[in-house]
Amino acid sequence: MRILGIETSCDETAASVISIDEKNGYIKPLSNIIASQIKLHAAWGGVVPNLAAREHLKNILPVLHSSLAEAGLSKDDIDLIAVTNGPGLIPALLIGTNTAKTIAYAWQKPLLGIHHIEGHIYANFINKSPEDIAFPILCLVVSGGHTQLVLMKKHLDYAIIGETQDDAAGEAFDKVARILGLGYPGGPLISKLAAGFKPGADLSPIRFPRPMIASDNLNFSFSGLKTSVLYFVKKNQARLADKKFVRQIAYEFQQAVIDVLLAKTVAAAKIHKPKTVMLAGGVSANIQLQLQLSKAVSEQLADTDFYFPEPSFQSDNAAMIAAAAFFRQQKNGRGETLSSGWKGLKTEANLKL
Ligand code: KG4
Ligand code: ZN
Repeated sequence: MRILGIETSCDETAASVISIDEKNGYIKPLSNIIASQIKLHAAWGGVVPNLAAREHLKNILPVLHSSLAEAGLSKDDIDLIAVTNGPGLIPALLIGTNTAKTIAYAWQKPLLGIHHIEGHIYANFINKSPEDIAFPILCLVVSGGHTQLVLMKKHLDYAIIGETQDDAAGEAFDKVARILGLGYPGGPLISKLAAGFKPGADLSPIRFPRPMIASDNLNFSFSGLKTSVLYFVKKNQARLADKKFVRQIAYEFQQAVIDVLLAKTVAAAKIHKPKTVMLAGGVSANIQLQLQLSKAVSEQLADTDFYFPEPSFQSDNAAMIAAAAFFRQQKNGRGETLSSGWKGLKTEANLKL
């Protein structure tokens, strides 16, 4: 089976073709095309919805064309079309969903709408067979818009057992990068600076708060941490010309975020005893988060596997949307066809998992 995935929920226009082995369900990406708008939005310090929509419109057909060309396939080889229908920026989402509806009509193919976070979770199944990952799964979803602990007892079954009360983890990285005048998106810039910091005796320590780390629930909060960095930076403005000092702030902020994410994930795992702990979303690209969570799982949780998506599938992409669609069509049937009413596929900014 071959699935064409389309993703336009934020600032990446993406299309991908995946193939699924008939016998063992192995999910192989045949193409993974992503047109990034980072440079365009960097000038504004964040994503501007109408500019994003304009870029998606410009890029969507070339990206779709490349995804088929790189896979060496034509429209006749595609069995199902999958598109992100939320959550995200409405002007951006609409370009993807309307394009998907149009080609589903023109090519007479079934169409499935996929939740963006469901896609991020299923990025972990790319280049694997479904049996490779054992249930129950505890997934730490960390993206620009979401921070959630999701417990899955089986495929497509999501219980949100903890989530942020304010900012998402990725959003905190982006806001702190802005406070430090680094640019957008903040995650990669902060983690690069943090990697260049070597704690030494000549530095007075900086300690940022770990919000809610000792609370008796599995929720998160990152807005107070961001405010604490803001006040610290305002107070120490004169020292910002010192690169080492900026690296230290990046390092200490990143470690505060990781400490909270780790503590809550391990606490959740001790309660719910999953067989697998997984990372999902753009912040899963953070090497320290990967390393420290991997260590915590192997040292503190018996018989628990740990996975995170391969680098090409960590931030927004369409292969993850196609991968999720493979599991959804197994459950719901082969997607809605024109006659069964996919015209009604809804695009929702706040679509719930
Ligand atoms: O999943 P994603 O690509 O888009 C959303 O669905 O939001 O996540 C983007 C977020 C941004 O906030 C970005 O700063 C963050 O992921 N991010 C990182 C890293 N790479 C991307 N955060 C921390 N460390 C990174 N290396
Ligand atoms: Zn995302």
